[in-house]
Amino acid sequence: MTKRKTILSGIQPSGKLHIGNYFGAMRQHIRMQNEGDAFYFLANYHSLTSVNDGNLLSEYTMDVVLDYLALGLDPEKCTFFAQSDVPQTTELAWILGCLTPVSLMEKGVSYKDKVANGLSPNIGLFTYPILQASDILIYHSHLVPVGEDQKQNIEISRDLAGKLNRAYDKELLIIPEEYIVKSVAIVPGIDGRKMSKSYANTINIFDEGKALKSRVMSIQTDSTPLEAPKNPDTCNVFALIKLFADSETVLNISDKYKGGGYGYGHAKKELLTLIEGYFAEAREKRKELEKDPDYVRDVLHHGGIKARKRAESVMEPIREATGLFRSFIYEP
Ligand code: ADP
Ligand code: TRP
Repeated sequence: MTKRKTILSGIQPSGKLHIGNYFGAMRQHIRMQNEGDAFYFLANYHSLTSVNDGNLLSEYTMDVVLDYLALGLDPEKCTFFAQSDVPQTTELAWILGCLTPVSLMEKGVSYKDKVANGLSPNIGLFTYPILQASDILIYHSHLVPVGEDQKQNIEISRDLAGKLNRAYDKELLIIPEEYIVKSVAIVPGIDGRKMSKSYANTINIFDEGKALKSRVMSIQTDSTPLEAPKNPDTCNVFALIKLFADSETVLNISDKYKGGGYGYGHAKKELLTLIEGYFAEAREKRKELEKDPDYVRDVLHHGGIKARKRAESVMEPIREATGLFRSFIYEP
């Protein structure tokens, strides 16, 4: 029997999750829980690079847990946990950091992007890829489903695994395969740029009622008059419709664009209905879960125990190989 592959991915609880996060990451995570030994975590150490308010970070963390569970993540099928329940992650990150040339971090595009977008240029942000490498390597992960924007960080983790193995002449870490989710292009935000919480152009997954309507109605479009035929392929509203509608509906709406007499307002209303239908079940489920905080905490508690056990089994040989003195046995 071939060994089930270990799949690992994480998401930062640093704001409300939006439909770009859903189609670009979460949907794949939920699908892949059936395809291997999946580990999914809330990257709250990473969130400290941008969130410095304790209450806010715990609130975002609980929000993301509820979002994932409501959208179909099944804690019986995967290990779902908080990064901070596995302190071995930061321990390994330090060891990897001692093998990382500064020049490798200086090439990081994500650091430059984030600073350009107003995040404070702290050391945590600068060395973020080392912590991410540790997240991946500490579970001996094989597959890391991520969006295109994370490609460089995965390459860095492969590089660092090789450096540690070579430095101590032992296969202490597994080199993960790359796994870039190609199924979804970048989801546009309401202003047409990449949807991102840094651009305040998001439609959040669990927005509803007036809040949802006002976001959808403010999607930017061009000024083609209602009567004139329109090109669906250059329209932000249509790009979003394609994510939510089945192929027949997409074709039908595309014909309406091309036929004229169909305004952007009509398209926005159709999009609103589609979004509401798509997430209806998840919304109900989320409301039920909100009433049961003990269950939610329990999920993370059990996930944390499993993840920590695995991390400890990878960490112990590394402590030994690196010659780090321990006067007691660490209880995972
Ligand atoms: P944000 O840009 O809102 O801060 P993150 O960088 O935290 O989002 O992204 C978390 C995950 O969601 C990543 O795996 C990323 O690939 C995916 N993602 C974020 N925004 C989009 C988007 N607009 N389109 C597709 N995927 C996205
Ligand atoms: N950097 C990822 C993001 O912004 C989140 C993340 C942290 C991650 N650690 C990870 C993703 C490990 C995959 C594997 O989306």
